[in-house]
Amino acid sequence: MALLKASFFQMSKRCFLQCGACWTSESKLSVHESPKIPPCDFTPEKYESQPYNHILKIRKQNFSPFISTYFQKPLLLQQGYMQWLFDYEGRRYLDLFSGIVTVGVGHCHPKVTAAAQKQLGRLWHTSPAFIHPAIHEYAEKLTALLPEPLKVIFFTNSGSEANDMAMLMARSFSQNVDIISFRGAYHGCSPYTLGLTSVGAIKPRIASGSSCQTTMCPDVFRGPWGGSQCRDSLVQTIRKCNCTPGCCKAKDQYIEEFKNTLHTVVAKEIAGFFAEPIQGVNGVVQYPKGFLKEAFQMVRERGGVCIADEVQTGFGRLGTHFWGFQSHGILPDIVTMAKGIANGFPMSAVVTTPEIADAFTKHLNHFNTFAGNPLAGVIGSAVLDAIKEDGLQENSQETGSYMLLKLAKLRDEFEIVGDVRGKGLMMGIEMVQDQDSRQPLSLKEVNLIHEDCKDMGLIVGRGGLFNQTFRIAPPMCITKQEADFAVEVFHAALSRHMEKRAKGVV
Ligand SMILES: Cc1ncc(COP(=O)(O)O)c(C=O)c1O
Repeated sequence: MALLKASFFQMSKRCFLQCGACWTSESKLSVHESPKIPPCDFTPEKYESQPYNHILKIRKQNFSPFISTYFQKPLLLQQGYMQWLFDYEGRRYLDLFSGIVTVGVGHCHPKVTAAAQKQLGRLWHTSPAFIHPAIHEYAEKLTALLPEPLKVIFFTNSGSEANDMAMLMARSFSQNVDIISFRGAYHGCSPYTLGLTSVGAIKPRIASGSSCQTTMCPDVFRGPWGGSQCRDSLVQTIRKCNCTPGCCKAKDQYIEEFKNTLHTVVAKEIAGFFAEPIQGVNGVVQYPKGFLKEAFQMVRERGGVCIADEVQTGFGRLGTHFWGFQSHGILPDIVTMAKGIANGFPMSAVVTTPEIADAFTKHLNHFNTFAGNPLAGVIGSAVLDAIKEDGLQENSQETGSYMLLKLAKLRDEFEIVGDVRGKGLMMGIEMVQDQDSRQPLSLKEVNLIHEDCKDMGLIVGRGGLFNQTFRIAPPMCITKQEADFAVEVFHAALSRHMEKRAKGVV
């Protein structure tokens, strides 16, 4: 303990000397100054709703006691414009979390908003008993973005509902029951998907999700194996290995674990396997390259289907590809999508092959009142147009890579930054007690850094089993100048934190 403290002090001293006077190529801030927020030419309206304390009172009295908010004094937001959010007092924040990886093209994107407003004045709702052009045009556009034979769409309203349906599809097509997902995964909170979701804090104390089994998440930073070239990212872990290009021992070891699961906890024939291309809620966890490809093959040998949950990774966020599964060189049998699909409008979809769709509909005449309504069709289409016209996938690649490399420098400088990872505009900064142990930094300390970032005008997400990881997934219109600001804020928050640690006040 004493040793640890001493090394923290040394490190803090080093950081303070290095950073206190002059700490980035762009900025020369003292540890007590805050980076200057980049300009924005949007002026929010004046807040005219109920006073802050009254809103808080309603929340305490009338909302689920479980739903916790970020920050000691929860942030009351009233307006958004592209990558910016404004609170009730008119304070502006750069949004690095986009309403949990949802507002992909920007808050109130003018073209998406205009399309929605036009449709609101025309026709809101028809029900699937009638047909309407918007959702059909949308279906044509969306399927054009998916490879053969993924051409049949089922519309739903949320990510959980999409995954519920994908589970039913896997079971009806395979005629088997067991479904596998990764430990640490989040696939939804409905009674059915709770079986797939494997996050301790969310696991219910009541029976749910029968015949769902979990397997070890091939997490190359926190898991038992990992090395210096495992993942598909510009930034690798701090772990060392002697693998040569094209061979990854960590991948082989995690595959052995996967085989173990197949041999021990599921029936000989299984229904399917769910995976996100990069795990979101678990803190932007990336698997070793080639893992999913081999796992998919083994699942199919057991009669199961492979489901890619693209709820967070789809719609260009990863930069190199439109869909996360493409970056693994795999072709799923079912793809589920939500969140970014409609920039915050409640909508989701399941896309599958004609064969699976047929098997599913033989078992269930699926009906859903709201799914595929005219508004959803129009908004979904406008989102796809915005991604293309605004070059957002390209920006995810360009600005995301730029930002990731800058964030990686924080890890070189601060012992409590254990890992920096991700792809495109989906990144994670995992906080640790120290880089040798890789043990999660205490919640109290991560909260303090989080709060300080917010006070400097930066909204960051959180994730990981211990809430130890900062998640970065801004609207995909973020610029390099804003990415610089974000990195400067992290730097300032970490510098201040290390100073407090050195003084023993945290
Ligand atoms: C990967 C993933 N799948 C599914 C869901 C569930 O989506 P929803 O909250 O819309 O039900 C989430 C939500 O965070 C998610 O991150």
